[in-house]
Amino acid sequence: MGLQNFGTGLNTVVFGAGGGIGAAFVEALVADPAVSRVHAVSRSLPGGASAKLHAHACDPLDEDALGRTLAGVTQDGPVHLAIVALGILHGEGIAPEKTWRHVDAAAMAAVLEVNTIAPTLIAKHILPVLAKDRKSCFAALSARVGSIQDNRLGGWVSYRASKAALNMVIRTFSVELARVNDTAQIVGLHPGTVETELSQPFRAGVPEGKLFTAQRSVSGMLGVIDRLDRGASGKTFDYAGNEVPP
Ligand SMILES: NC(=O)c1ccc[n+]([C@@H]2O[C@H](COP(=O)([O-])OP(=O)(O)OC[C@H]3O[C@@H](n4cnc5c(N)ncnc54)[C@H](OP(=O)(O)O)[C@@H]3O)[C@@H](O)[C@H]2O)c1
Repeated sequence: MGLQNFGTGLNTVVFGAGGGIGAAFVEALVADPAVSRVHAVSRSLPGGASAKLHAHACDPLDEDALGRTLAGVTQDGPVHLAIVALGILHGEGIAPEKTWRHVDAAAMAAVLEVNTIAPTLIAKHILPVLAKDRKSCFAALSARVGSIQDNRLGGWVSYRASKAALNMVIRTFSVELARVNDTAQIVGLHPGTVETELSQPFRAGVPEGKLFTAQRSVSGMLGVIDRLDRGASGKTFDYAGNEVPP
């Protein structure tokens, strides 16, 4: 379908472009006739060939590198759509905790650094350069498990806390953004359970029909972004457009 409500000639940027969901966002935006530029930002230079595609290597936790990347992204004008699709759930020395006995300070700090601090730094640099003359949006990938109200299972404390904190960052920045740019929005997105490296060890209990390809999830999320109403800023929505409770 593509973006309908942003106008045309869109300048877009995807952080975490090397991830399963990030790469699918890049692919969908490159295919969208409303989009004229897709800046794909990753820790290692992403591949792909298209006149629209501009690749940037950048560690999002390095603010000097972020500043240089943003200078490239805004070379031809402000940003209409920014997607932050980076995050970790497991990795070397990191596994989602089943009980408080599994909590490890270094692992928890690493999860908070990637899932909360990196998107916050990216927002610090992107929010001031969002277009002011028409609809523009900053969307960060959060997760339903970051909902405090929805948490009945427990476990995964570092990941849950990192996404709950990200949701608070989004809410907080939405208040400040509204004061300086009344056409811009900042939202969180829950992609569903998606077939990527991140979900790979944890898919056993996913009900039939609830495991999405990255392409299907991204198509849903782009539709949600396109249809956001004026009161949406500061909130988190799932791939179908339903609000995830705080
Ligand atoms: N998959 C799911 O079922 C699911 C469910 C709910 C929420 N989410 C959220 O969706 C987002 C994307 O996840 P995904 O499934 O696409 O995961 P993925 O395939 O593992 O990709 C995650 C990307 O995050 C970036 N990243 C990882 N470690 C990093 C680090 N130490 N520093 C900086 N960047 C780092 C990397 O981007 P680069 O390679 O480009 O550097 C990586 O490719 C995450 O925020 C995740 O929490 C996913």
